[in-house]
Amino acid sequence: MSEKPKDRPGDESFYARRVAIAREIDALPGATTGNAAERADWFERVYAGADGDAAGVPWADLRPKDVLVNWLRKNPGHGQRAIDIACGLGDNAEAIAAAGYRTVGFDVAPSAVEWARARFPHSPVDYRVADLFNPPADWVGAFDLVSECYTIQSLTGAIREAAFAAVARLVKPGGHLLVVARTKEDYVPQPGPPWPLTPSELAHFGALGLVKVASRNYVVERPGRVIPHKFIVYRREA
Ligand SMILES: C[S@@+](CC[C@H](N)C(=O)[O-])C[C@H]1O[C@@H](n2cnc3c(N)ncnc32)[C@H](O)[C@@H]1O
Repeated sequence: MSEKPKDRPGDESFYARRVAIAREIDALPGATTGNAAERADWFERVYAGADGDAAGVPWADLRPKDVLVNWLRKNPGHGQRAIDIACGLGDNAEAIAAAGYRTVGFDVAPSAVEWARARFPHSPVDYRVADLFNPPADWVGAFDLVSECYTIQSLTGAIREAAFAAVARLVKPGGHLLVVARTKEDYVPQPGPPWPLTPSELAHFGALGLVKVASRNYVVERPGRVIPHKFIVYRREA
């Protein structure tokens, strides 16, 4: 599978199509479930249903996140091990690998992994189909750099609660976790998906042995919307 090159994020027709498709996929079964298998099926259906048209994958920017790229510029990997959680179409994983990390990118949706491999056929990234909640045993505590972008915010219920520990346990002692997420205050109701992360939720990482070393608030602008985000860097004590 390869993406259709006729238009890209930023083009008006792309966004119009994306908004229409987002409404359809939000109505599919599994869009708001806290059941792991049903949620994974929903993601697979989205990627497979998009059939190579990135407008059908509402979160796909087809470029790495600027906050991640800026951090990587100052923190090259020099061969350290990194993992991009729920890599989707692979842009963040590719940026991490380009910064000198030996990088694994994984996603629960086989069609996402197939699409990422097709987009980057000569990539050094080790793309895998895997489940955040049941990773290979040798991934636990194994990575100098763990990148979490938009995954937790896409989950709700029991799997969201479990996701913080599932993300944190991949970080090696002395390693870093990067979190890119939409955010909101705890008291602000917001129907999802996505469900932005709140301060009390982000505090879970502290309880899981990760120390916040940097945090930056920023906004992402979309037609008619300004969306609050955070980029947070955590470190696990050595
Ligand atoms: C909102 S998308 C973000 C994708 C990518 N990180 C990005 O920033 O574009 C959430 C991703 O999480 C993946 N995902 C959901 N549940 C997962 C799980 N249990 N294990 C691994 N990936 C999962 C989905 O397939 C989807 O690619």
